Amino acid sequence: MNLIFLGPPGAGKGTQAKRLERLHRIVQISTGDMLRAEVAAGSEIGQQAKAMMTSGELVPDHVLVAMLGRRVRQDDCANGFILDGFPRTVGQAAALDAMLHELGLKVDAALALDVDEAMLADRIAGRYTCAQCGAGYHDSFRQPSVVGVCDVCGSHDFIRRADDRRETVTARLEAYRRETAPILPHYDRQGLLFHIDGMATIDAVSRQIDAALQRAVTTS
Ligand code: AP5
Repeated sequence: MNLIFLGPPGAGKGTQAKRLERLHRIVQISTGDMLRAEVAAGSEIGQQAKAMMTSGELVPDHVLVAMLGRRVRQDDCANGFILDGFPRTVGQAAALDAMLHELGLKVDAALALDVDEAMLADRIAGRYTCAQCGAGYHDSFRQPSVVGVCDVCGSHDFIRRADDRRETVTARLEAYRRETAPILPHYDRQGLLFHIDGMATIDAVSRQIDAALQRAVTTS
């Protein structure tokens, strides 16, 4: 199964993609995480991307298409993948179609998480992750069972993203409206688009996604 998560920053794409990864043993490919790893490593890509990411702008298509192209060809993608943060422009959607066609693959479903914009800044500003294993938490919506201790690996180290400031969220939302929202009709025309109410609780969103995937499997 090859899935795409679409939705504005903070909609819950990463939260839900990680859960599906565990449930279905298919790989989550987060282009945001890949870029942050490049920035941390100080690579050429990372140096190019850092300022754009910090200001909430998108990184150029050619960088992302090359990076994603290498990633989907890796062995761990053989059982399927969940694209979290890609495609994000009309150009990336076209490049993905060409890439998958060449590999004899297709998209099985595109899941669009719909969330009111007023909610997004709160979600983003409260978000933090475990520095060791990457498990995601939130100051209000999802604390670890024991505050200050990661549920998954027991680490006491947590980090917050450099672009998760309220000022940057506005720029990220504008980039979403301008560049990413226009790709939804591309998947709708192919009967692959499923709208999910991302305002519901994390568990209720998961249940909607499971139901959408059942429909996608039975109609494909
Ligand atoms: P990226 O890392 O992809 O960030 P994003 O799309 O802005 O999405 P987020 O990770 O912020 O949010 P999310 O939807 O995953 O929400 P989450 O599950 O964490 O991209 C970062 C940057 O990299 C971009 O701005 C760009 O510069 C660059 N980039 C990446 N890909 C690119 C591409 N293809 N092309 C060009 N540039 C690219 O949830 C948020 C919080 O809310 C969490 O704390 C969570 O616990 C909580 N939460 C989640 N769901 C719920 C719920 N239902 N109820 C309550 N709380 C919830």
